[in-house]
Amino acid sequence: MRHIVVMSSDDRRTLLNVAAVATGPIIEIGSFFGGSAMMMSEFKRPIICVDKWEVACLDEVLKTHYWQKEFRNIKITDDNFYAIFRELEKAIPFIKSVRGDSVAPFTIERVKSLLGDELAGMIFIDGLHTFEQVSAEISAYLLLLKTNGFMVFHDYHPDFKGVVEAVNDAVNDGRLMVVKPGYTTVCRKL
Ligand SMILES: C[S@@+](CC[C@H](N)C(=O)[O-])C[C@H]1O[C@@H](n2cnc3c(N)ncnc32)[C@H](O)[C@@H]1O
Repeated sequence: MRHIVVMSSDDRRTLLNVAAVATGPIIEIGSFFGGSAMMMSEFKRPIICVDKWEVACLDEVLKTHYWQKEFRNIKITDDNFYAIFRELEKAIPFIKSVRGDSVAPFTIERVKSLLGDELAGMIFIDGLHTFEQVSAEISAYLLLLKTNGFMVFHDYHPDFKGVVEAVNDAVNDGRLMVVKPGYTTVCRKL
């Protein structure tokens, strides 16, 4: 399987430590080729992976660097981008994909139907890093997270002002509390 991991070792440790103590299903926004989802699957809990799997929504770094290195001989298209993720979904029964914009009503409905009667215990946000998208994701997905559940943000760093400002807003207005600051920032739902 071709599931490249694009997180640093510190970030991987943070993500795995949270996944180890969170209870209930996990939602991941931004799954790419499945690296972070595959790591979290070791806890054998449902992981709902939300992504557009469209070449156009990858930034230049993801478009060039990783693809050239990992997929030297493959021209990545929208179809084989998703097909590579589907290999992982077929191999790991806990993983379910939802293809679409993270905040589109159809996507949210599909995530809700996969959750059934449950709420998520952990939501990992690593999709489009604009302020508008991350803010909308926080608002929409907090409704699907248990009180005290974990909302984890990758790329909380000045290079990604949208992520920093959206998380800070949710902390300042009392919806989230930071429990572990860092490049991967861990919050709890209040
Ligand atoms: C940095 S990558 C995620 C990396 C992944 N978490 C990992 O560690 O392997 C960001 C992902 O967000 C997805 N994405 C971008 N905009 C999106 C949107 N509006 N809705 C859903 N996913 C989106 C991209 O397709 C890409 O796969």
